Amino acid sequence: MSISKLLKNSTDILKSAGILSAEIDARILLEFASGKSREFLLAHPEYELSDIEVDDLSKLVARRKLHEPIAYITGHKEFFGLDFLLTPDVLIPRPETELLVEKCLDFLQTSNHKPQTVLDIGSGSGNIIISIATNCNLPTAIFFASDVSKKALIVARKNANNHQVKIEFIQSNLFEKISGKFDLIVANLPYVPIDGSSDREIKHEPQTAIFADNNGEMIIKNFLSEAKNFLADGGQILIEVDPRNAKSLARSATKDFENIEILKDYSGKNRFIRISN
Ligand SMILES: C[S@@+](CC[C@H](N)C(=O)[O-])C[C@H]1O[C@@H](n2cnc3c(N)ncnc32)[C@H](O)[C@@H]1O
Repeated sequence: MSISKLLKNSTDILKSAGILSAEIDARILLEFASGKSREFLLAHPEYELSDIEVDDLSKLVARRKLHEPIAYITGHKEFFGLDFLLTPDVLIPRPETELLVEKCLDFLQTSNHKPQTVLDIGSGSGNIIISIATNCNLPTAIFFASDVSKKALIVARKNANNHQVKIEFIQSNLFEKISGKFDLIVANLPYVPIDGSSDREIKHEPQTAIFADNNGEMIIKNFLSEAKNFLADGGQILIEVDPRNAKSLARSATKDFENIEILKDYSGKNRFIRISN
């Protein structure tokens, strides 16, 4: 069957399943099933795919039809200009988290305290810490990443190897297995209130990476109540939060910290909290 016909059929199937990005997704799946580049597919609509490739594509489309995220089907996601391996054991990195990485890099590159130690708590696929380690230009810095999920750490280790960065990975419930002080502590912990989302794609992601009790605040509040003991003088904490909880979380941080700011994301929402020591 020709590329143009396969593209149309796949798009129609995905549209009828209510997938809003049906055409883009059909193209991505066609690229993946055929191993041909986007440019080739565009330039050769008449090109015939083999029966095996057609069969592969129909299996991928069947998965997408059930709203399985594209990133899990292809096993990859781009974040901060880098390619990350993904499995359903890890959250799919979100675009707003790229701004969190930028804020971390700003601190590491402008701080007068010569930061040398960075800790990422709840590292998932390793997207944050690997993006920082790759871009911060601090050749002597030491990078640590932790997650409560052993399976997530397996994915993160593979990503660190692929990007040739040295990260020390630790399986830990928040700071339980962490020792020492860090110049930068970054975290994007679960913050979605339970029952707060009916998105069909989110149901495919690890629920322990997304949801938190107490209106989405519990894990971050626990993090904030322990963080003080692990932050070096002149250090910074940068965390991503649910915009609806930013003010209340910033208020709860006042128990241990004085210098607390709420920072906005690109859509003007209160998305990050920055704490300076
Ligand atoms: C929202 S995901 C973020 C993943 C990744 N850092 C990112 O930004 O895409 C939250 C991560 O925190 C981990 N996590 C959840 N509870 C945790 C806890 N108590 N201690 C450490 N990690 C935790 C989850 O396993 C998950 O990988």
